[in-house]
Amino acid sequence: MNTNDLIRTFTPEAQRKVQPRPYFNHSVEFKGLYTPQERTRALDEAGLNVFNFPADMVTGCDLLSDSGTTTMSNEQWAALHLGDESYGSNRGYFKLREAIRETFGSEYFSDRPGLVHNAFIFHQGRSCEDALFTTLGALGSNLLIPNNGHFDTTQANIEANHIEALNLFSPELRNPASSSHFKGNMDVQRFEELLKNSNDRIPVAYLTLTNNTGGGQPVSMANIKEVFLIAHLYHVPLFFDACRFAENAWFIKQFEEGYTERSIPEIVHEMFTYADGFTISFKKDGMVNMGGGLFFKEGGLFLDKYPHIPDAIFNYQIQKEGHPTYGGLSGRDIMALAVGLKVSARDEYLEYRIGQVKRFGNHILDYGLPILEPTGGHAVYLDVNRFFEGTKMQPGDFGGISLTALLLSAYGTRGCELGYFAFGTWNPATGEEKLPEVNFVRFAVPRLRYEDADLESVAESLKLLHDRRDRIPGVEITYGRELALRHFKARFRFKDINV
Ligand SMILES: Cc1ncc(COP(=O)(O)O)c(C=O)c1O
Repeated sequence: MNTNDLIRTFTPEAQRKVQPRPYFNHSVEFKGLYTPQERTRALDEAGLNVFNFPADMVTGCDLLSDSGTTTMSNEQWAALHLGDESYGSNRGYFKLREAIRETFGSEYFSDRPGLVHNAFIFHQGRSCEDALFTTLGALGSNLLIPNNGHFDTTQANIEANHIEALNLFSPELRNPASSSHFKGNMDVQRFEELLKNSNDRIPVAYLTLTNNTGGGQPVSMANIKEVFLIAHLYHVPLFFDACRFAENAWFIKQFEEGYTERSIPEIVHEMFTYADGFTISFKKDGMVNMGGGLFFKEGGLFLDKYPHIPDAIFNYQIQKEGHPTYGGLSGRDIMALAVGLKVSARDEYLEYRIGQVKRFGNHILDYGLPILEPTGGHAVYLDVNRFFEGTKMQPGDFGGISLTALLLSAYGTRGCELGYFAFGTWNPATGEEKLPEVNFVRFAVPRLRYEDADLESVAESLKLLHDRRDRIPGVEITYGRELALRHFKARFRFKDINV
């Protein structure tokens, strides 16, 4: 037996256990040192709202968001120096155009002069949403936009334009017994019924890849295709919210029949054949700290149906952001993005990234704590209701808020409540809370930032809190219960501090 034969006898599982990171630290930043008492004082001043807590004092892991928190590669830092700060059509714009065409398909970024503009760079995702939904809102009244799960800013931008935002989560998402790998799918039955009765109300349908509000769960190629075909049957264009397109493609490659041998770039290309346009925040799979884009497919149903909209977007953007060739970004940001897009579609990067989220989830599960399973691409979602099962915690005590506050004070780790408080609404007339279907605390894992051991320590902290769950108090809201997007603004205090 030679060494090659010997190596072949190792199982893939055994090899994976010792797999090193596909990168190493290029530079590091030391954290500050703060005591739990200092953190508690700062959190009290922040009204227990984790968004108001100073990031410098997060001495554990900052898992508030995976958005804009990516550690950039040395190639991206080098690209920043090549940024061209000209006002229009800077050097980076052309590099980005090539990267977009290569990643998503040439039809999403025309390079033919004189053609109607179909690609708009923005400074982040929500500004694309603002531009799109403002122009769509002007089309008429009583409009509706369905999605497999609207992200909060997407929903807010839709509603700000008096359009109804409807979530059509997959029934699998609410079924803890389901082992489906694609719980982010859209409920196609409800989608078709909706279109049958109201397609004239729907200017565009949306699919969010992966489904952030729906537990960061991926959407299968079969679902993407079916939604696209149904939408077109009723003459409704389909858009993607494509923030995590590469992570979604990785799940398709892993778990969907017929895709194992396909490369991630090939899968991404196929995904984008089933869309008429997309909005994207590049702060996720663009691997940068700032950037967004709005793209209409040349020859797609959207441009066919609404040929005037690109010009309306152009005007809107000039008024709000700047010329579409820089869209509120500096030239160096654009250069970093053109390089970053290439990183996110690399197999070894995605394998490690999504594997890390899974290993983090498994640590939490090993302690017997409830999370949404299987883990998605960018975050682990702790099931708040099951965490507090058997305790006196009531829905109106907002246990998820208590949990995030205590985790931050005691262990210096920051997560984010995305559940009864973030997505609930209060009716001042009845004094009642309308609760959403899901109640999670999300631990979003920034790209290329933490090592497995850091995340293991978060799992351990959660276990320590779980051991004391009987003594965790609820919170009362001292400010902002009735406000829109209230989780960003509200203040709280513990009902009692008998921890
Ligand atoms: C699915 C989804 N859509 C849109 C956005 C908005 O992007 P941005 O933060 O760049 O405005 C986010 C941000 O987290 C998101 O996760």
